[in-house]
Amino acid sequence: MRQIVVTGGGTGIGKAIAAAFAEQGDQVVITGRRKDVLAEAAAELGPRVRPVVFDAADPAQVEAALSELPERVDVLVNNAGGNRDRTGQPDAAPTGLAGLAAAWQANLDANLFTAVLVTTALRERLNPGARVINFSSIAAHRGGSGSYGAAKAAVENWNVTLAQELGPEGITANVIAPGYIAETDFFGTGGISAERVAWNVGQSATKRVGVPADIVGIALYLASPAAAHLTAQVFHLDGGTIYGR
Ligand SMILES: NC(=O)c1ccc[n+]([C@@H]2O[C@H](COP(=O)([O-])OP(=O)(O)OC[C@H]3O[C@@H](n4cnc5c(N)ncnc54)[C@H](OP(=O)(O)O)[C@@H]3O)[C@@H](O)[C@H]2O)c1
Repeated sequence: MRQIVVTGGGTGIGKAIAAAFAEQGDQVVITGRRKDVLAEAAAELGPRVRPVVFDAADPAQVEAALSELPERVDVLVNNAGGNRDRTGQPDAAPTGLAGLAAAWQANLDANLFTAVLVTTALRERLNPGARVINFSSIAAHRGGSGSYGAAKAAVENWNVTLAQELGPEGITANVIAPGYIAETDFFGTGGISAERVAWNVGQSATKRVGVPADIVGIALYLASPAAAHLTAQVFHLDGGTIYGR
C-alpha cells in the first residue's frame, strides 16, 4: 500500500487529490495549519486518510511533525500555498519597504518554503521510484501578480534541481501549474467577482472555470509507474489559457 502525503490536503485541490489517492487504496496523510478543517476533511474522506497539523513554512513545526508523518513515502504532493499579498485589501500590510518585504516574504513562505522544507524533511524517507509533485500557478507565466507569481516561478526553478538530485533513485519531481480553479479556499470566503470569473473563462480555450477534479488526473498519472521517465516538467492545467512554455 503506497504512502501519500498531501500538504494543504484539507481543502480545495489538495483535498480532491487526497480523496482520489484514498479511493485507489493508498494511505494518505493530509496536512495543514487548521486542525478543525483537517479533522473534518479526514472524517469525510474515510479511514485511509489521516490528518497531521503543522505550518509547513515553519522549520520547527515541520521537524516536530516528522514523528507523525509516514516512515516511508511514495508520493509527496506539495500542494500547500496561496496568495498572501494583501495589497489593496483592507488587511493590507503596512506601506514602506518593511511592509513590502513582509508581503514578499509571506508569499515565499507560503509557496516556496513550504515545498522546500517538507521535501527536505522527508527526503530520506522517499522510497526509490517515489514521486514529488509541486504546485505552481498560471501566475508564474502570465505575470501581473507580483510576489505570488514570483514565488511560484521559484518553485518551478527549484523543481528542476530537485529532479536532477532525485533522478538517479528513480524519483521524479514535476510541477502542476493550474489556472483559475473554483471550489477552493484560495480566494477566501468571498471568492472572486463575477467579472473576474468571466475574464478567466474568456481567456480559456475551454470556456469554463476549472475545478479541483480537473487537477486529479494529472496528479494520479504523475504518481503512476507509467510516468517513471517524466520529470523536471511543468504541466499547465488551465483550460488552454496559456499555451505552455
Ligand atoms: N485555486 C486556484 O485558482 C489556483 C490557481 C493556481 C494555483 N493554485 C495553487 O494550488 C494550490 C492549492 O490551492 P487551492 O486552490 O486548493 O486553495 P486552498 O483551498 O486555499 O488550499 C490551500 C491549502 O494549503 C494549506 N496551507 C496554506 N499555507 C500553509 C502552510 N503554511 N502550512 C500548511 N498548510 C498550508 C491551507 O490550509 P491551512 O490554511 O489550514 O493551512 C489549504 O488547505 C496552492 O499551491 C495554490 O497556490 C490555485
